[in-house]
Amino acid sequence: MGGFPSAGIHANQSAMKLGVCWYPEQWPEALWASDVARMAALGLRFVRIGEFAWSRIEPEPGHLQWDWLDRAVDLAHAAGLQVVMGTPTATPPKWLVDAHPEILAKGRDGQVRGFGSRRHYCFSSDVYLEQARRITRLMAQRYGEHPAVVAWQTDNEYGCHDTVVSTSDAARAGFRRWLAERYGSVAALNAAWGLSFWSQEYRSFDEVDAPFGTVTESHPAHRLDWQRYSSAMVERFNAAQVEILRAASPGRDIVHNFMGLFTEFDHFAVGRQLDVATWDSYPIGFLGQGPFTSAEKARYLRIGHPDLTAFHHSLYRACGRGRWWVIEQQPGPVNWAAWNPAPAKGAVELWGWEAVAQGAERMSWFRWRQAPTGQEAMHAGLNRPDNQPAAAWPEVAALAEGLARLGPLPKRGQADVALLFDYDSVWAVQSQPQGRDQDALAIAMAWHTAARRLGLSVDIVPPDADLAGYRLVLLPVQVVVDDGLAQRLSASGAQLLAGPRTGSKTRDFAIPPALPPDGLQALIDIRVARVESLPPGISLAVGNGGVVTGWMEDVEAGAGVAVQSRLDDGRGLWFAAGRAHYLAGGVDAGLLGRVMAEVASAAGLVVQDLGPDVRVERLGDLKFLFNYGPTAVDLPILPIIGSNPVPPAGVAIWREDA
Ligand code: GAL
Repeated sequence: MGGFPSAGIHANQSAMKLGVCWYPEQWPEALWASDVARMAALGLRFVRIGEFAWSRIEPEPGHLQWDWLDRAVDLAHAAGLQVVMGTPTATPPKWLVDAHPEILAKGRDGQVRGFGSRRHYCFSSDVYLEQARRITRLMAQRYGEHPAVVAWQTDNEYGCHDTVVSTSDAARAGFRRWLAERYGSVAALNAAWGLSFWSQEYRSFDEVDAPFGTVTESHPAHRLDWQRYSSAMVERFNAAQVEILRAASPGRDIVHNFMGLFTEFDHFAVGRQLDVATWDSYPIGFLGQGPFTSAEKARYLRIGHPDLTAFHHSLYRACGRGRWWVIEQQPGPVNWAAWNPAPAKGAVELWGWEAVAQGAERMSWFRWRQAPTGQEAMHAGLNRPDNQPAAAWPEVAALAEGLARLGPLPKRGQADVALLFDYDSVWAVQSQPQGRDQDALAIAMAWHTAARRLGLSVDIVPPDADLAGYRLVLLPVQVVVDDGLAQRLSASGAQLLAGPRTGSKTRDFAIPPALPPDGLQALIDIRVARVESLPPGISLAVGNGGVVTGWMEDVEAGAGVAVQSRLDDGRGLWFAAGRAHYLAGGVDAGLLGRVMAEVASAAGLVVQDLGPDVRVERLGDLKFLFNYGPTAVDLPILPIIGSNPVPPAGVAIWREDA
């Protein structure tokens, strides 16, 4: 252990707990004791283990080898580390796949997704569900009451590698049952989807297939329902594990690790089954995959986009109903992006403080030590493959030390701004985009960025959220506005800002009888008469500055509606009636910021333009400033954490009354 810098702190119950993902099964046992001792010395308080270890736990069907895992858990416990135990169901072993090849998923192309990586199972397979129950039950019986075990992680990253949708025989059969339950009769299905169009009517649910492999576009409502069904299968799979773990491991939190930039199933629905939502945060890995310009990708190459991480923190805070962790945090270059740059000096610590500011209970790094072999051999850890501390180590130590210095942390309160995010709306836009690059997640992220740039903190909330207490409610892309949401919007008293496509479909994916925006028209008397989408590079000038790109609607407005801004061609863009505001086009970031600033000011909120790089957050009386930019930022005060000026990739924290 000698020679490793250590934070030298002891457990602080109310600070964010730090941990690491540990894979003892991949290393000689001779290393384990020093591993856990060094973790504790670094200021770590927990390990996540087990989530891929099925072939070591059950090397032959029915032959269970717990001894090694017992020893690893006991060692962690003896070192004062808590354990988050993963169920290993993301990696069914070879013998299981060979015995039951029908558990394998099939892609949209009908190809079997074979053994040799991970996540090869089909969520619709009852055979696999039973196997998942079996191994979960065995693990829960073994470790459910172990004093070190404080939480369970179900599976690992549902949907990773595009695995929510499967077209296996089990999925087809399940979809037919799901349709029968939802629509009652095939006549009702034919009517709801409007299948007289192109002679697509069915005589029985058994005739309905997967909506892939058709000559041209398959029916959009069919694709939307296939996605809804696939999402329901993820819920079913998770619920089965949750039920077993709850019974056998009382008092432990049950969590799942969600992903970034991923919308293939309804995370709010899975979140409701859990005690805590966790997610896997790879700010640099996601930058290349996110909806950013090439200039942004260059500017934030080594730190990630200033709002991407915060967006997901806020989203998963909602999924966990206030309780959330980062269970995997990037410590250095990853292996899975197209290019894998190293973080800037300070970035690893900054990401930690972002999670603190957003109210995370725990954060753990992926992974303890870089593996010398396998698919992820190029992925950094807190230690190099030679077991020497990697570049992230001193930043983890600094975070641990800073947390100890801050002491107990205040709880994160409700923000002033709610941003509605809806998985069903994402799928609706995917099912009938009308413009190739229309992307509901990207639009929601752009609205979130606009609010953060104004210095506002944002709670991302599901469409069924209680809106009481919010002063500004944002609806970037809420395709279906059901009666409940319409009533809560009417009752909320907040300023409302809705984007194009709000209320543009019924739940059955038809254009609403009174035209969009369905559900908003009681608040603002407008009707969308026509929509057009525009290719990249085309922009429509707006009278008082800014442009519309991508999407524009022709809106008819009633007498009581004010047109706040228009395109140069005369079409209304920003409509307002009382506290309801509607934007009829995809506006550029600057114009979105100006509109949002006005609406936020009308809500009594104080706004400022922080520019592209600087972000602020508040946690009780603690104020945080994050510098994502390339130049230092001056502060009017001396921070208690960080320095003044705040360097690039730097953080400053101070108390409000200081
Ligand atoms: C996550 C996954 C981990 C590991 C990691 C690498 O998506 O949960 O198992 O693969 O990425 O960055």
